Amino acid sequence: MENIVPRSLSNILVTGGAGFIGCNFIRLLLEKTPAFTGRIINLDALTYAGNSASLADIAGRFGTVRYIFEHGDICDRALVESIFKKYDIDTLVHFAAESHVDRSILGPEEFIKTNVMGTFTLLEAARNYWGTEAGFRQGALFHHISTDEVYGSLDATGRFTEGTPYDPRSPYSASKAASDHLAMAYHHTYGLPLTLSNCSNNYGPYQFPEKLIPLSILNMLEGKPLPVYGDGKNIRDWVYVDDHNRAVWNILQKGVTGEKYNVGGENEWENIRLLNVLIDIVSKKAGLDAEKVRGTITFVKDRPGHDRRYAIDCSKIKRELGWKQSVNFEEGLEKTAAWYLANSEWVEKIR
Ligand SMILES: NC(=O)c1ccc[n+]([C@@H]2O[C@H](COP(=O)([O-])OP(=O)(O)OC[C@H]3O[C@@H](n4cnc5c(N)ncnc54)[C@H](O)[C@@H]3O)[C@@H](O)[C@H]2O)c1
Repeated sequence: MENIVPRSLSNILVTGGAGFIGCNFIRLLLEKTPAFTGRIINLDALTYAGNSASLADIAGRFGTVRYIFEHGDICDRALVESIFKKYDIDTLVHFAAESHVDRSILGPEEFIKTNVMGTFTLLEAARNYWGTEAGFRQGALFHHISTDEVYGSLDATGRFTEGTPYDPRSPYSASKAASDHLAMAYHHTYGLPLTLSNCSNNYGPYQFPEKLIPLSILNMLEGKPLPVYGDGKNIRDWVYVDDHNRAVWNILQKGVTGEKYNVGGENEWENIRLLNVLIDIVSKKAGLDAEKVRGTITFVKDRPGHDRRYAIDCSKIKRELGWKQSVNFEEGLEKTAAWYLANSEWVEKIR
C-alpha cells in the first residue's frame, strides 16, 4: 500500500519533550527501543509543566549525538523552520501543549496560542520543509498527539471510537479538537504525511503534580487534604504512560498515513475508587495509617462542565498495528507511587 512507510525515523523532532508524556517517550526510545537508532531533537519552551531536570541524565548520556535540547516556543515560526533545516528533521512527534483543563477554564488564551497556533506553525514548517515538486519527502511523518477529551462526555455506556463525532466541552479540549482538525486538514488538503492519536488519561513518573494521581500521592506524603471534585464518581480510562508511548512508536513505524488511532487502557475507574486504591498503595509504601489518610479526602465544588465519563475503544490499533497494553493498573500505580517516593528532588525542582 502506497501510504505504508518505510519511515525514515532518523531525525525526530519531539515537541514538549520536557513534559510528562514527552520525557517518558524520549526515555523509551533512547533507553528501551534498540530498533530506534536515530537522534532526538527536543523543542520545549519549559513552561511550568516542563523541566529540563526530567531529562538531565539523558542529556548527560546521549547529549549532542543522539539527544539535543532546543529551548523555544513552537509558535516561533523562524525558530521552528531553522530547526527543521539544521537537523534535517524527517519525523515530528508533537506533544507540546497546554494540557490542564482547570487552567484552561481560568485562562484559555495560552491554550489557543500553543495548542492551535503552535500546531499550525509546526504544520506549516513541515509542509514547507518536506514539500517537493513531486509531493512530500518519502519516509517523512508528522505525528500529532491528542486526547480522548475531544470526543466529549459519555453516559454510563458506550465507548469512543475513531468515528465518534467531536464534541469538546472545555477550552482545553476545544483547542485540542481544533488542532486535530487542522492536522487532518493538512493531510487531506496538501497531502502532508500525517498520523494522529487520541489517548485516554495517562499516569506514571514525571507528571506535574497538579493532576489527580501525582497530586494525591504528594498530598498523602505531605499530610495535606486529598481534594476530589463533585461526588467523585467521574470516570476516566487510565493507561500507563509507557503503554501510550509504545503505541506512538508503533504508529511511527507502521501507522497508515492519514489515519487516526485511539489509544486507551480499557481500564475505567471512578475517581473516588481510584483514590482509595492509591491510598492503600501509598500508605503501605510510606508507612502511613491508611484510615487516617482516607479521612483527609475532601469533596470540593465540581469543575464547571466536568465531563462525566470517558471510555476508549482502542480495538483499531490493537487489530491493525498489533499494539496492546502491558502494564496492569495496580502494578502501574505501584511503580508510580514508588517513583514519587524516590524522587523528592525532582518534585522540589519542578514545583
Ligand atoms: N496527560 C494526559 O493524560 C494526556 C492524555 C492524552 C493526551 N495528552 C496529550 O499529550 C500531550 C502531552 O501531554 P503532557 O501530559 O505530557 O503535557 P505536559 O503539560 O506535562 O507537558 C507539556 C510540555 O509542552 C511544553 N510546552 C507548552 N507550551 C509550549 C510551547 N508553546 N512551545 C514549546 N513547548 C511548549 C511544556 O513546557 C511541557 O514540557 C499533549 O498534547 C496532551 O494534550 C495528554
